[in-house]
Amino acid sequence: MAKIDVPQREDSAQDDTRATDLLHYIFSLPNLEAIRGNPAKVIEAIDDYSDNYKFLMNVGINKGGHVVSLIHQQKPSTMVEVGAFVGYSAIMFGSAVRECGGKQYFSLEINPVFAAVSSLLVELAGLGDFVQFLIAPCNVSLAKLVHDDMLENGQINLLFIDHWQKRYVPDLWVAEQLGLLKPGVSTIVADNVVLPGAPDYVEWVTASTAEKREKLKTAETLSTLKADSLADHIKKTGYGAGKVNLDNVLGNPNLIYETECHRYPLLNAEDALAVTKVVGLEK
Ligand SMILES: C[S@@+](CC[C@H](N)C(=O)[O-])C[C@H]1O[C@@H](n2cnc3c(N)ncnc32)[C@H](O)[C@@H]1O
Repeated sequence: MAKIDVPQREDSAQDDTRATDLLHYIFSLPNLEAIRGNPAKVIEAIDDYSDNYKFLMNVGINKGGHVVSLIHQQKPSTMVEVGAFVGYSAIMFGSAVRECGGKQYFSLEINPVFAAVSSLLVELAGLGDFVQFLIAPCNVSLAKLVHDDMLENGQINLLFIDHWQKRYVPDLWVAEQLGLLKPGVSTIVADNVVLPGAPDYVEWVTASTAEKREKLKTAETLSTLKADSLADHIKKTGYGAGKVNLDNVLGNPNLIYETECHRYPLLNAEDALAVTKVVGLEK
């Protein structure tokens, strides 16, 4: 029999079980038909499971509510989230974006089991024709969005970053260099910046353009790509294996950000959302 290589993974197979157990729980609920097509009720059912059975790493009702208020204020046409897990934020935010007249919601998820679970729950919530899942490391999915011209006006109005914290900066840098973040248009929200914590991310989104240029001088030695326009390069050459090394793209220091951290109490600790508005671009 031919040998096959199963990809190495950073998370654990137990995480898959937590997610698939949730599916068994939800699809055996006696009131399943009453929650079908109702995003708020599907969210409630996921919260019940997480509060009373196995904890799930969802954004939760408090921090999630903050993002929903932002959606109501800003009415984003296109929202992209990084990290779907079981689809909680995709349901909560996808429903709010659709309600506010938004056109697109993309959920980028690396783990195909999580994407499958999310997709079933999103479908159950009645958002199956609105939320689109891309299954790959998010830097590759961001490149695909550009390469395949999938984003309305080539821009992201609201970007929700909620994957592994050590990837926040390198993956934000890819979004910056692809030109997806536009002054006066884009807002970035990052979860978990205090717990587990993303200090290097907070440092980047609160730094001045001069400080960011300085920081990139030392980062530059790590770069394999000097990108004038990463978007043009990807459109010409593609983004798959053996093309551009998307793990080593440097950020765009010229984007001017205004960031506020909003703290939220947890059971025995505290976390915060970092809300960053893209307000300018230095020439
Ligand atoms: C904290 S969970 C997301 C929770 C979800 N946003 C919510 O609030 O309902 C983090 C997710 O990020 C995914 N992830 C980790 N690294 C990723 C990457 N490089 N690209 C895309 N997804 C990634 C994980 O598989 C996991 O599902």
